[in-house]
Amino acid sequence: MTSLPIQEILIPQDRLQKRVSEIARQISEEYAGKSVLFIACLKGAVFFLSDLMKEMTIDVEVAFLYLSSYKGYTSPQGGVRQYMLPLPNLRDRHVILIEDILDTGNSLIYAWDYCRHFQPRSLQNCILLVKEGSEREEIPPVHYRGFDIPNVFVVGYGLDYQEKYRQLPYIAIPSL
Ligand code: IMP
Ligand code: MG
Repeated sequence: MTSLPIQEILIPQDRLQKRVSEIARQISEEYAGKSVLFIACLKGAVFFLSDLMKEMTIDVEVAFLYLSSYKGYTSPQGGVRQYMLPLPNLRDRHVILIEDILDTGNSLIYAWDYCRHFQPRSLQNCILLVKEGSEREEIPPVHYRGFDIPNVFVVGYGLDYQEKYRQLPYIAIPSL
C-alpha cells in the first residue's frame, strides 16, 4: 500500500475508530437539541471529519478552511497562509473547529481568530492528536481531544509526509 518505511504504528485503526466514536457521542450529548457547524481544516482533518460525522446523532453541517503553514519561516500570521474558500455565515452558529493535529499551534490560533471574527454563538475545537509540549498559554484550550502523542512526526489518517501517506488507516511514525 505504501513504500514508506514505518518505524512504529502509534495508533492502530481500531483504537482510532473507537475514540472517534466516543468523541462523536460526547459532542452529540453536549450539543443535544442544537445544530452544529463543523469547520474542518484542509487537508489533514478530512478523514477524522468524515468518521466523526458518521457517528453524530444531532444535526451537523460542514464547511472547510484551507490553511497551509510554512515551517521554518516567520510571518505576521505565525507562518500560516489561508487559501480562500466560501464559508457560510457563522453568526449565531454553534461552531466546532476540527483539526488533525496540534503541533506549533499556529494553525489553531489562526483558525480560531478567523472564526471568532464572524461572531459565532459558540466556538469550540476538536483535535485528533495533541503533541506533547504543544499546549501553551497563547493557544486556545483544547475542548475535544482524540489522543495525546509524543513530540514525533507522524503520518496516516489524513496526515501526510510530502503529500503522501494520508491514506494509511492508522497513525504511524515513519522512519525518515
Ligand atoms: P501547527 O504546527 O500546530 O500549526 O500544525 C500545522 C499543520 O502541520 C497541521 O495541521 C498538520 O497538517 C501539519 N503537521 C504538524 N505536525 C505534523 C506531523 O507530525 N505529521 C504530519 N503533519 C503535521
Ligand atoms: Mg502537511
